[in-house]
Amino acid sequence: MDERRIYLDHAATTPTDPRVVEAMLPYLTEHWGNPSSIYFEAREARKGLDAARRSVAEALGARPAEVIFTSGGTESDNLALRGVAAARKGGRHIITTVIEHHAVLHSAERLEQEGVRVTYLPVDREGMVDLEALERALDDETILVSVMSANNEVGTIEPIADVVRIVKARDPRIAVHTDAVQAAGYLDLDVGRTGVDLLSLAGHKIYGPKGVGVLYVRSRTPFLAQTLGGTQEKNRRAGTENVAGAVGMATALRLAQAERVERGDHVRLLRDRLLEELPRRVSGLHITGPKDPERRLPNSFSCCFERVEGEAVLLQLDLKAISASSGSACTTASLEPSHVLLAMGVPHDLARGSLRITLGKGNTMEEIDRLLDVIPDSVERLRALAPQAARTS
Ligand SMILES: Cc1ncc(COP(=O)(O)O)c(C=O)c1O
Repeated sequence: MDERRIYLDHAATTPTDPRVVEAMLPYLTEHWGNPSSIYFEAREARKGLDAARRSVAEALGARPAEVIFTSGGTESDNLALRGVAAARKGGRHIITTVIEHHAVLHSAERLEQEGVRVTYLPVDREGMVDLEALERALDDETILVSVMSANNEVGTIEPIADVVRIVKARDPRIAVHTDAVQAAGYLDLDVGRTGVDLLSLAGHKIYGPKGVGVLYVRSRTPFLAQTLGGTQEKNRRAGTENVAGAVGMATALRLAQAERVERGDHVRLLRDRLLEELPRRVSGLHITGPKDPERRLPNSFSCCFERVEGEAVLLQLDLKAISASSGSACTTASLEPSHVLLAMGVPHDLARGSLRITLGKGNTMEEIDRLLDVIPDSVERLRALAPQAARTS
């Protein structure tokens, strides 16, 4: 048996690109100075950080001063919501969607506890945000709208330019934030095209390092730092900068954007085979997310199996050296189905049988063929083992 593992969970994280590691290394070995100091060691670190900031700005069609380096997607999302809410004390209303990552949802919930009103927009059966509900939700107290660029569980690509158009028609002062953490590898991030005011990125989803991210904040957007201390990041995030991380983030983003079409075409071919072939081979399989492959991220496949627990399928796959995900924040103790699937109207029982496959640039058609061989067998075996328990659970 082939013992090489097959990694199919690129929405969770990606292997670090050797070119990224190479770009980072000098900032861990030679140029380790504190970029805020004034001597030689500091100057080299400062140069690296400044170049990284310029490079990220270029990828976003933004200005370097509009780029804040953070510790990752979670911090960027927290900072976007809290930073704007703190700066616009008079405004009492935020709008987001029911399918956001918990980094946004939990930030919104905390703001609710602090007295901010939050509207959670519904989505349709494919995970597309309801734009009419957005129009209805906007009011005189709205200060911020946060809608993700693409969903991490089902890959739905949201109409961000339309969101911005609707919001700005109501009041140009309302800031629009988008979590582009999953979109960064596959979509055009130009903030001039979409018109967003804030945008979150994470290094480790695009073959960069973990623990580093970006929050883009359009100039003149009301915004207050949430980490206090030094004057780093133009007073918007205190703390000695993660220079090597920033260089890694910038390199990963530059490569992601330069190779975007090629990487997209590669994973799309593999994904489309899965979309076409897996439902033929497994009975009781329901594709989740958009049926139209153009409306979902090209690396994203997700489905639910009837009469089987998603976690059990994952364990079977793991035994066959395949790493995939259920797409939800399941723990072994709590098998609560995904909030995203439930919001899309997937019945509770079916949502418990979810599988997410997210492809990457290193995957091959042979790996997909292997997956197509392994899944039907695993699902049928599980159904045969515990038909009654699965049916009544
Ligand atoms: C859409 C989305 N937003 C935010 C995050 C959080 O990013 P990080 O892991 O860098 O904190 C993730 C990671 O799973 C994500 O998929």
